[in-house]
Amino acid sequence: MATNNKKLQAWVDEKAALCQPDNIVWCDGSDKEWDDMWDIMVKGGTARKLNEEKRPNSYHVNSIPADVARVEDRTYICSAEEKDAGPTNNWFEPSEMRVKMDGMFKGCMKGRTMYVIPFSMGPIGSDIAQIGVELSDSPYVVTNMHIMARVGNAVLDVLGEDGDFVPCLHSVGVPLADGEKSEPWPCNPDNRYIVHYPETREIWSFGSGYGGNALLGKKCFALRIASTMGRDEGWMAEHMLILKLTNPEGDVKFVAGAFPSACGKTNLAMLTPTIPGWKVETIGDDIAWMKFGEDGQLYAINPEAGFFGVAPGTGMDTNANAMLSMESNAIFTNVAETDDGDVWWEEMGEAPAHLIDWKGNDWTPESDTPSSHPNARFTARASQCPVMASEWEDPKGVPISAILFGGRRASVVPLATEALDWNHGTFLGTIIASEMTAAAFGAIGQLRRDPMAMLPFCGYNMADYWGHWLKMGQTKGAKMPNVYYVNWFRKNEAGKFMWPGFGENSRVLKWVFERCAGTADAIETAIGNMPTLDGIDFSGLDMSDEDIANLMRVDTEGWLSELDGIEEYYATFGDHLPAELTKQVQDLRKRLESSQKAVA
Ligand code: GTP
Ligand code: SPV
Ligand code: MN
Repeated sequence: MATNNKKLQAWVDEKAALCQPDNIVWCDGSDKEWDDMWDIMVKGGTARKLNEEKRPNSYHVNSIPADVARVEDRTYICSAEEKDAGPTNNWFEPSEMRVKMDGMFKGCMKGRTMYVIPFSMGPIGSDIAQIGVELSDSPYVVTNMHIMARVGNAVLDVLGEDGDFVPCLHSVGVPLADGEKSEPWPCNPDNRYIVHYPETREIWSFGSGYGGNALLGKKCFALRIASTMGRDEGWMAEHMLILKLTNPEGDVKFVAGAFPSACGKTNLAMLTPTIPGWKVETIGDDIAWMKFGEDGQLYAINPEAGFFGVAPGTGMDTNANAMLSMESNAIFTNVAETDDGDVWWEEMGEAPAHLIDWKGNDWTPESDTPSSHPNARFTARASQCPVMASEWEDPKGVPISAILFGGRRASVVPLATEALDWNHGTFLGTIIASEMTAAAFGAIGQLRRDPMAMLPFCGYNMADYWGHWLKMGQTKGAKMPNVYYVNWFRKNEAGKFMWPGFGENSRVLKWVFERCAGTADAIETAIGNMPTLDGIDFSGLDMSDEDIANLMRVDTEGWLSELDGIEEYYATFGDHLPAELTKQVQDLRKRLESSQKAVA
């Protein structure tokens, strides 16, 4: 045993007795451990080592087609009372779920090894950081956790004899009979359970080996469980990137941004500005924990240590810094392999004449299926990102001046709008709707409500969570960030994105910066403050005047019909809905109707 922590010892013993692994290995996060895990995975047919010359110390893994994304319909919030999970979460009575889970996990690790992975979310020892321990029978999980979290003995030192941790139990859910060989990608797609007990802060995950289902420090802990911690303790756990923005004069502002899965957080967090003199550096690309500092500002840390990023669409032209982060020591999941042992995916650059696709079949540019799964991912160390900000591991976090909300909206939502105040900003967060992506199983392209980009990640009643946002703004001495609603994905009549996006998003960041600095004007409209005609610099962009006008237009009719949907949605939360939000809808309707009259 590598620990003298009583609770940890007892828990590992208890879960080992339940899961009955052949061996127990305590993970130390070392390079040797990384090599050992890959050795097992390469020998077992799970992984292939990539060409050492082209992609040093990196590996490629393909899952099976049934296990390529988060499974939201198999994700449960088992609060004591159903109302505390709320209408947007799957709820299950906790004591019944415990009986069910004990049944599922009984003997589930037979023939396998149980890895004990102590990890810190956030810099080890930071006041904002939290400790978890994941028990998993997947070497793929061990290596991904090496990159995504801080793993090893230093965590056990901080834990000490009586420190507390969040227990995270994970199994791929397929025991092996005596001498039986493991499948290359073991999982149990018919019996997947991603289970959270928010009151006791526990996570049990069964049957999937993939990303957010299996790397339990990420969505399960750092969002679902941490959001309930934040509610109880007065802080916020958000699905947000964090970036550092420096203007040509050298002034700095930190910006956080919530966009649903596969809607552009990683890209924005490390973008290369197209406007001269401006600099973007990265603090985090997926999750932010924010607490008040003594000065009343919200300070954010990135609890993670790496990126689990969407591969397709990522290339040197769109996100060079992500590409450079994964040049070595990286993991690739569900991408294509080149004939010389490197990786490739759609939009990485020119397609090679021949590939082996993510399903193991021959692929050429003439093939009619993509070479990589649309939710294929790279796992890369944050420390290897060339634009990590010097503050990224600062234990006290960085002060947030602005929060951006966004999503994929083909219509109605303009390029950029500023909230009138914190309550209005909270309202804008609650009404995010976005076209679904491949990051979760479901109807891709369908518009769905995804408040604060937290629909799949809020560990409690969504309306209570909105109440928590409003309450944060009422905290004595609070200096809340400005809030913006942005949309990079508006389409014209030809069905094409009107806005070039990626590095050009720096033009919107500049406006946000200057609004926060008090140096840019805005026009007050029914939906919020909009940039003046010269507020956003469109010069040098290959855009028609018509597209620019459409991107900046307040679509009064569109917003009015949007409001009906919002009211219907709000009604599903019953008396949990904060009265302030009902008022926000009424106020917006009034403003829209009077602007309609003014025009008529
Ligand atoms: P998760 O890791 O799932 O939370 O996703 P994310 O929000 O970090 O999204 P990411 O930055 O990985 O982008 C997802 C997809 O959107 C990629 O294929 C990108 O190429 C594409 N994308 C990102 N930013 C833009 C943009 O500004 N415009 C357009 N058109 N596409 C973008
Ligand atoms: C997301 O889906 O928002 C991700 C990937 O960041 S996963 O870790 O699988 O949740
Ligand atoms: Mn995400």
